[in-house]
Amino acid sequence: MLPAYLPNPVAALCGGGTPIDLGKNYSDNRRLFGDGKTWRGLIVGILAGVLIGLVQIWASGTFSFGMLPQQTLLSVTLLAIGALVGDLVKSFFKRRLGKERGAKWPVADQYDLVAGAFLLLLVFDPAWLFSQVTLAAFICILIITPILHRAVNIIGFLVKVKEVPW
Ligand code: CTP
Ligand code: MG
Repeated sequence: MLPAYLPNPVAALCGGGTPIDLGKNYSDNRRLFGDGKTWRGLIVGILAGVLIGLVQIWASGTFSFGMLPQQTLLSVTLLAIGALVGDLVKSFFKRRLGKERGAKWPVADQYDLVAGAFLLLLVFDPAWLFSQVTLAAFICILIITPILHRAVNIIGFLVKVKEVPW
């Protein structure tokens, strides 16, 4: 899951500048995505996810981790893009609910990246998904993700990268 987990913290670290929605509003006169979703965060975040995935592919060829899924260029790309597209789609619906940037939205805030990553895998590489990710692994991901999410956001808040600890 590293290629899906890394893009969010990297976007928080490196994001900023032009918002993806270019400051535009939706028909409800609220922002399409908001200032928390920027082009730089999206692009640098995805690149970081793909890069860590390439390191995984290299490492699994050099050492042997028999129990781990064998990543491919496609799988790591889908995991990385899916994580931040999931985050972006989440923000679209968050704005429609009238929640401001950075507002808390339990469950959605924690699972957006998992939903995005797995949906892209399901559509564009189902053979990889079903051959590499067991049900047990998927359940582990569902348990670990909100815990990691919370921990990383608290750290981000303490080091002043994030404005809120969620
Ligand atoms: N970020 C970014 N571009 C992205 C995603 C995130 O620049 N595509 C940066 C922003 O600085 C954002 C921070 O990462 O504030 C934390 O991301 P997140 O918690 O997802 O955004 P929020 O500010 O909470 O906005 P939202 O309410 O829309 O989730
Ligand atoms: Mg947030």
